[in-house]
Amino acid sequence: MDCPLYEKIANQIEQQVAEGIFLPGAKIPSVRKSSKQMAVSVATVLQAYSLLEDRGVIKARPQKGYFVQETQRPASPAKKIEPTKTEESVHTLLQRLLHVVRDDTMVQFGSAVPKSQFLPVRQLQRSVGRLMRLEPEVCVSYEFTPGSLALRRQIAIRMLDNGCQLQPDDITITLGCQNALMLSLQAVTQPGDTIAIESPTYYGVLQAIETLQLKAIEIPCDTATGIDTEVLQQATADWNIKACVVTPNNHNPTGSSLNHAARLRLIALSVEHDFVLIEDDIYGELSYQDKRDRALKADDQANTVIYCSSFSKSIAPGFRIGWLVGGAYQAIIERQAHAQSLAIPTLTQTAIANFLENGAYDRHLRKTRQAYQNNLARCQQLITQHFPDGTQMSYPKGGFLLWVTLPKKVNAMKLHAQALEIGIGLLPGLVFSFTSQYHHHFRLNYALNWDNAIDTALKELGRLSHQQMQDAL
Ligand SMILES: Cc1ncc(COP(=O)(O)O)c(C=O)c1O
Repeated sequence: MDCPLYEKIANQIEQQVAEGIFLPGAKIPSVRKSSKQMAVSVATVLQAYSLLEDRGVIKARPQKGYFVQETQRPASPAKKIEPTKTEESVHTLLQRLLHVVRDDTMVQFGSAVPKSQFLPVRQLQRSVGRLMRLEPEVCVSYEFTPGSLALRRQIAIRMLDNGCQLQPDDITITLGCQNALMLSLQAVTQPGDTIAIESPTYYGVLQAIETLQLKAIEIPCDTATGIDTEVLQQATADWNIKACVVTPNNHNPTGSSLNHAARLRLIALSVEHDFVLIEDDIYGELSYQDKRDRALKADDQANTVIYCSSFSKSIAPGFRIGWLVGGAYQAIIERQAHAQSLAIPTLTQTAIANFLENGAYDRHLRKTRQAYQNNLARCQQLITQHFPDGTQMSYPKGGFLLWVTLPKKVNAMKLHAQALEIGIGLLPGLVFSFTSQYHHHFRLNYALNWDNAIDTALKELGRLSHQQMQDAL
C-alpha cells in the first residue's frame, strides 16, 4: 500500500541527509518554504518534520528552525564503488573515483591538494577582506584576458627564478593550469592529431585528450629520470607528433625531474621533428633544493615551448589562477581564452598579486617544502616497514606526491575499495594512463597534517596489501 504523503516527504528528506545533501548540523528548509517548494500544505510538512524528529534525523530549535542531528552521517560513498571496467573512459573512471578523493572526512591520500595548513589561508583571508572593503568596485568588475597586469608583472618576476626573461605581455592568466593545458592543446592540434605524453601522466591531460579527440602515444616516464627521450625519438619516426605534454619538474604522479641533458634533448627533438612542447611546471616551485630547476621555456630558442603553471599547489587551488606563456601561439591562445571565458576572476587575481608583492610567498614556500620533506621521510619509512616485499616507491625531490608500485599480485583498485571501507582514500594507478598497465600502482599525497591516524592508515594499507598477497596464494 502507498504510504501517506507526509511519510513520503519524510523519506525523501531522510534520503537527502543520507546522501550528504544536508550535512550534520545543517538547517533544513523552513516548514513554510518546504510547503511552497513541494506544493503541499503546511500541516503535511509539519507532520513530515515531526516524523523525522521521531526517527532522530532532525531536531527543532525554538525560534531557529529544524536542523539535521549531529549524529547523522551521510552514507559512505565507498559503498558505491564498483570494480573498474576496462572499456570505461578515463573521464568516467575519474568521475567515480574523484568524488571519493574529495571526501575530507577520511584519511585522504588520494587528492593532489595540500591540506589547508600548507596554504597561506590567513594571509589570503586578510587580503580578500581588505580588497572587498577598500576596492569593491574593482573587485566586481571584469578583468579581461590576458588578465591582471599587476599579477602578470609578479609572475614575470617570479619566472626569473626558473630562467625565463619575460615581459608581462608574454603571459596570459588562465583558470588554473588545467585551463592552460587545454588552451595550449587546442591551439596546436586538430581532432585526430597525435600527441606524445608521459606514462604515467596526470589524468587531466588524459581528459583533455579525450575531449579534444586526440590520439596519445604514451612514452615511459621513469620515477627518477622522467620521460624517456630515446623512446620519444623512436616515436617520432613512426608518428606525426604534433605536441608533447611534459612535466620536467616534480612530475605528477612519479615525482621525477629531468636532468639537464634530457631537457636539451627534448627541446632539440621538438625542433628537429617540428612538434610543440607543452610544459607543465605546476610543481616546479616546490623543489626541495635551494635553487629550483630551470623551465624548458628558459632554453627555448626556437619558441616551440608553451609554458603552463598555476598557484593551485602552493597558494590556493580554489582561486583557480594559472597562467601560460604561449610564445608563437600566444595570440591564438588569447583569442580562444577570451572567447571561452571572457575574463578571469578579478578578486582572486588581485589577492594573489598582493600576496606575491609583499614577499611572503618565498617564506611560505620554504616552510611548506621543509614540512613535505619531513612527511616524505616518515611516509617512506612506514611503507618500507609495513608493505609487502617487492613494493617500490618513488623518491621525489619536490612536490608532495609519492608513486607506489606494489607487487603484481596486489590489485590497486581492490586496495582502493578495501581502503575506502575503513575510511582511507588513495588514487589507483589506472587513472594515470589510457592503458591498464598501472593496476598495481597507486599515488599518495603526503601534504597532510601528519599524526598517529596517518601512521595507522599507512600501516592498514600495508596490511591490506599483505592480505591480498595471501589471498592470491
Ligand atoms: C600536473 C598537473 N597539472 C595540472 C593540474 C591542474 O591544476 P589546476 O588546479 O591549477 O587547474 C594538476 C592538478 O592536480 C596537476 O597535478
